[in-house]
Amino acid sequence: MVKHVIKASAVLVVIAVMGAAVAISAEKDPLASRVPADQLADAKKAKNPFQGNAAALAEGKAIFEGKGTCFTCHGMAGKGDGPAATGLDPSPRNFSNPAFDKAKTAGEMMWVLKNGSAGTAMIPVVGSVITEEEGWKAILYERSLGGEK
Ligand code: HEC
Repeated sequence: MVKHVIKASAVLVVIAVMGAAVAISAEKDPLASRVPADQLADAKKAKNPFQGNAAALAEGKAIFEGKGTCFTCHGMAGKGDGPAATGLDPSPRNFSNPAFDKAKTAGEMMWVLKNGSAGTAMIPVVGSVITEEEGWKAILYERSLGGEK
């Protein structure tokens, strides 16, 4: 009896996973910068003031998974598969992709946090949902998911 219940729930999990995979759209080129050309040099230069700060990294995780609401779209593991990702086209960024992490600086990500990414569900969050300081901490955590600390 117990065995049957376990089997049935395993089947349901598989169906749920398949459903999610079908519903999630592709990402828009994750390696191309979202910053307009005339602002790119300045954006790239901006350094994360919390780089290498373990306490800030932990705070960034709490912001990502709480107040910042990042997890709702990006997912708890940052794979772009959060509960609100279903139906979003393009799909939220997959932060566990090391190629994305390498292609862009933290400053470019801050630009997106402040300005959003036009034509996508990524709206400006710094200044509304979170402060700039919280944004840097969330970026620190987000980058740790792709390998960088
Ligand atoms: C409503 C859904 C949603 C929420 C909430 C959200 N994002 Fe996003 N995010 C997206 C989508 C969609 C993209 C992909 C945009 C694109 O392809 O241009 C994205 C892209 C990004 C990028 C990549 C920008 C780039 O240069 O490629 C970063 C960084 C980012 N989000 C950080 C965050 C952080 C940090 C939070 C929380 C403070 C957050 N996002 C909250 C939907 C969301």
